[in-house]
Amino acid sequence: MQKKIVVTSALPYANGPIHIGHMVEYIQTDVFVRFLRLIGEPVIYCCADDTHGTPIEISAKKKGILPEQLIDEIHKEHIDDFQKFMISFDSYYSTNSEENRKYSDFIFTKLKEKELIYRKDVELTYCAKCNRFLPDRYVKGKCPKCGAEDQYGDVCEKCNATYSTTDLVNPFCTVCGAAPTQKSSNHYFFKLSACSDDLKKWLESNKNLQPEVKNYILNWIKEGLKDWDISRDGPYFGFNIPGEKDLYYYVWLDAPVGYIASTENYCKNISKEKCSVDDYWKNGRIIHFIGKDIIYFHFLFWPLMLMKSGFSTPEDIVVHGFLTVNNEKMSKSRGTFFTAKDYLKILDPEYLRFYFASNLNKSMSDIDLDFNDFKSSINNKLVADLGNFVYRVLSFSNRNCSSKVTGFSEKELQKELKAKYEDIKKAYLSYNMRETVKLILEVGSIGNKYFQDNKPWELVKTDEKKAEEVVSFCVNLVKDISIISKPILPAMSAKIEAQLNIKPQSWEDLDKELKNHEIGKGEILIKKLEDELDKLAVKDPFALLDIAAAEILEAKKHPEADKLLILQINTGIDKRQICAGIANYYKPEDLVGKKIIVLRNLKPAKLRGEMSAGMLLAGSDGNSVKIIEAPGSKPGDRVFINGITPSPESQISIEDFFKVKINVDKHKVLYRGEPLKTEKAELKVELDSGKVS
Ligand code: MSP
Ligand code: ZN
Repeated sequence: MQKKIVVTSALPYANGPIHIGHMVEYIQTDVFVRFLRLIGEPVIYCCADDTHGTPIEISAKKKGILPEQLIDEIHKEHIDDFQKFMISFDSYYSTNSEENRKYSDFIFTKLKEKELIYRKDVELTYCAKCNRFLPDRYVKGKCPKCGAEDQYGDVCEKCNATYSTTDLVNPFCTVCGAAPTQKSSNHYFFKLSACSDDLKKWLESNKNLQPEVKNYILNWIKEGLKDWDISRDGPYFGFNIPGEKDLYYYVWLDAPVGYIASTENYCKNISKEKCSVDDYWKNGRIIHFIGKDIIYFHFLFWPLMLMKSGFSTPEDIVVHGFLTVNNEKMSKSRGTFFTAKDYLKILDPEYLRFYFASNLNKSMSDIDLDFNDFKSSINNKLVADLGNFVYRVLSFSNRNCSSKVTGFSEKELQKELKAKYEDIKKAYLSYNMRETVKLILEVGSIGNKYFQDNKPWELVKTDEKKAEEVVSFCVNLVKDISIISKPILPAMSAKIEAQLNIKPQSWEDLDKELKNHEIGKGEILIKKLEDELDKLAVKDPFALLDIAAAEILEAKKHPEADKLLILQINTGIDKRQICAGIANYYKPEDLVGKKIIVLRNLKPAKLRGEMSAGMLLAGSDGNSVKIIEAPGSKPGDRVFINGITPSPESQISIEDFFKVKINVDKHKVLYRGEPLKTEKAELKVELDSGKVS
């Protein structure tokens, strides 16, 4: 009996769209899973949305909907994107499911029984202004280890150190910019420190794990593991810890459990044959794919959670690197951030599948989506070596051999090809897709050369039988190409099968010769790329701004800066403090109650010792400065212009804001000649002309 295999990709967060960086992992996993299916392994591919945590709770609040509504909408979006990229999940579930609650409680209870969980009072970061504890992503400051500025409260992106929010140096609340205080709360901890030996044993005995990752973790272990805080205070969107009033599992506790919950969903609701979670998680094989940013959770906590609650540990955890675009980090402001939907509007998903596969192996190195390389790779390899060969052979057969495949006797070359297929199989199984693609292209080249050297277009005039043999050999090669490339290019393979007039093939069919067969009509398989990519790169920087109406609640002079006023404002989503350089033009007492326009997503900064979380927009003609107003609007009303769909980044720098040239003309506020407005009215300012700053 073959062991059942469950393969997973990391669960994408349910608070945003799938982007092409994500697609690296889903394509990598999908290719692997499709290959296992092709060779007849009993494999299932399970994934889910990761729905819990503070970001989702806050996003929903900002939108004025329930978290449940938000995650439902996102679930549909994600499924749609994945389907279009042909990601063939057997189960795509949600961590906000009863199955997930059940398994999370089960594992939690098991750990407790083993006395691996204890309670402890902790000092946490608390924002008195926002009225909430500030988890990792909601507080920033200096990394306590390497000193890097602007790091989140859980892990440093520069040195990978993990710490708690209270360790941050000079912290600030990322929602309102205020300096947080500390408050104590009683939390649950997982005794990681007691598990070092078990973990070490697992790492050392598992021969599949990437050595680079393994060494990383062994180092952490050597430095001593810290116990893990697995609970969070309300308000939180997550599973209530049994018996607790306002305490929840930390999202990273129930997130990986989602892999099991998704498997149960498969067994209960999808599988045609009877199966159970235990078939996969106790008696089967477990293979995870993850990105390098989440190693910590998958190599420390997760194997222990599994081990200590009676499940098997993963056979392998394949870790990939990050996607860069034209050698830059993906970022909206640089025009290098594309969602799956942005891509699909313009390009064929199989191009990306092919390109990523061409660049992936089992390694943590980053992969770059370089537009020039992408174009040449598609046009010179996928189209020229594979697509053109297939079309050339089939259309030739249609025209000159009445579409008949008779048979061939080419033995030597056939042997060489068979050896290549074996190598391709090995490359797939060792996650070396770059090698797979290289070998597949070699097969294409062999075919092209064979066709070229044997000149069937001349043979048809002199030796019809020989011509038929040459074409038969090539048609069989086309069939083989459709099989070996199927995991990467499922749609192209299906087209080839249809044109060849054969049933869906599996790996075994490489050994079955097409003989005495009539093929269908050959048609062009895949188009060359023109300049589609250029369209992908344009995004107006105005779209990155989050500008809205707000109301001034309090105003006073800045004690340390003559030009600045300190304003307390209501932005519609929160109350916060900003500093504005209008002290020479306005008296504080005249400002209270005034409606203003603010840039809400400007990165908070301290101005002469006072926090400023956002920027008031004012016009200036060189002499005077006037604040911009939105008549009739209320705090929170968004400012936009016609023709640009806002997709604000969570925070932007002042440099990015200055790239957007906004000016004033006849009291109107204009960007690219379009007036800025709210739903109610166009913005206005008491100046005839000038610019906005
Ligand atoms: N929700 C967690 C995973 C929980 S798994 C129990 C999470 N979600 S994520 O949406 O941020 O990322 C999902 C996967 O996509 C992760 O493996 C992550 O590494 C990967 N990627 C996200 N951005 C990426 C790139 N720019 N490039 C390559 N992979 C990237 O983490
Ligand atoms: Zn706050």
